[in-house]
Amino acid sequence: MTHPAGIGTGVGAGADAGAGPAGAAPDALPAPLPAVAPPPHSEQDPAERMSVEELRALQLRRLRATLAHAYANVEFYRRGFDAAGVRPEDCRTLEDLARFPFTTKADLRDNYPFGMFAVPPEQVRRLHASSGTTGRPTVVGYTDNDLSTWADVVARSLRAAGARPGHKVHVSYGYGLFTGGLGAHYGAERLGCTVIPASGGMTARQVQVIQDFRPEIIMITPSYMLTLLDEFERRGVDPRSTSLRIGVFGAEPWTEEMRREIEERAGIHAVDIYGLSEVIGPGVAQECVETKDGLHVWEDHFLPEVVDPFTDRVLAGGEEGELVFTSLTKEAVPVIRYRTRDLTRLLPGTARPAFRRMAKVTGRCDDMIILRGVNVFPTQIEEVVLRTGGVAPHFQLRLSRRGRMDHMTVRAEARPGASPEQRAAAAAAIASEVKDGVGVSVEVEIVEPETLERSVGKIRRVVDERNH
Ligand code: DLL
Repeated sequence: MTHPAGIGTGVGAGADAGAGPAGAAPDALPAPLPAVAPPPHSEQDPAERMSVEELRALQLRRLRATLAHAYANVEFYRRGFDAAGVRPEDCRTLEDLARFPFTTKADLRDNYPFGMFAVPPEQVRRLHASSGTTGRPTVVGYTDNDLSTWADVVARSLRAAGARPGHKVHVSYGYGLFTGGLGAHYGAERLGCTVIPASGGMTARQVQVIQDFRPEIIMITPSYMLTLLDEFERRGVDPRSTSLRIGVFGAEPWTEEMRREIEERAGIHAVDIYGLSEVIGPGVAQECVETKDGLHVWEDHFLPEVVDPFTDRVLAGGEEGELVFTSLTKEAVPVIRYRTRDLTRLLPGTARPAFRRMAKVTGRCDDMIILRGVNVFPTQIEEVVLRTGGVAPHFQLRLSRRGRMDHMTVRAEARPGASPEQRAAAAAAIASEVKDGVGVSVEVEIVEPETLERSVGKIRRVVDERNH
């Protein structure tokens, strides 16, 4: 296993150490992952080394410019600010932002396709769109400067994840209108990496390409990573024996249990990348590999707030609520107080002291299942299923109605070779842990290996049959 000269991250130390036939010594403890050193200060962006005071001053300057740009060029913001009785110049401190109205996904849909754009069409260099699974899609656009900012924040994210110039980055996020593929792609190029633009799907080919091209880094949804790991094992290849050292996982909620599952099975560091198309795409926040303690929000470009989703009150640091973003440098489609629907908490900076962290996203307000009065998130079930022996890390939640009661069935896949007794024990363990930990009774069905639909991108966890 060779690495580009002079990288010195420690990534790849002990490379191929895990090589061996798939399924060998299943009870052996996995070897600890080699530590990855943080990037030297000289390789970080100057912004990454700012003091909190410098960062706040920069944010205020950029916020005032963004409010003025939005007010001058987007009718939606002009009307909204006027109705709320605020003008851009009323923003004299960062706290004044709370006086400005929120923006929602519905607002973006109502202004489909280009009503939220703040620059003339000829300055828009690229368009992306959300999938629009629930109604009209939303469209976002980028000027040359926006594309450059985006590549910068993804490059910064990758560096924080442990990637270095010269590394090969296998991108399995979908290319197309989705921001995942192209966002990751240009960021990796900006860092000086070699990009393998695999996109999503054609799983057998992805596995072959990883074996042949020997990338150190993979960027992929956690659920699709599980599909790839299954494919490696199906071919008799121990996933721990590949060239991969670091995975940068995002685009869907995932848990610490999922991190453990992936790190142990693949022998790689698993770190979290967050973003959304309305704000820019991937690269809004990133977890540092040396601490793995939540995602540093790149606050010089995206100003976060956490609000109570019901009362709209701005919450103090550490309190869980809905994440809201205001873009600070975007030209084509600035967003003011955009409600992400994602639930998390803001925490103080660690590895990048000035940049607050966001805790791993628990779920989206929209994904919350209210089951007989109890709020349930798919991530809570993920934690339980992945902790339970005898089942594979694949599961699905089915919602149905029995009489006038909502009912949830957790369908989890048996591990190949699990005996009927092990399956029954797993079902009982999942039901009782969900009852104790989440507070709801669920039915658990253990299905045959390889029967649940596999992810090739963002996974759909919930099948809602209540209206059928
Ligand atoms: O998913 C952008 C992205 C691509 C992020 C690749 C990371 C990696 P959208 O399709 O607009 O953009 O979906 C955004 O996905 O509001 C969250 O609900 C969810 N999401 C994204 N990253 C994470 C994450 C991309 N790390 C929506 N953890 C967001 C949890 C995430 N949820």
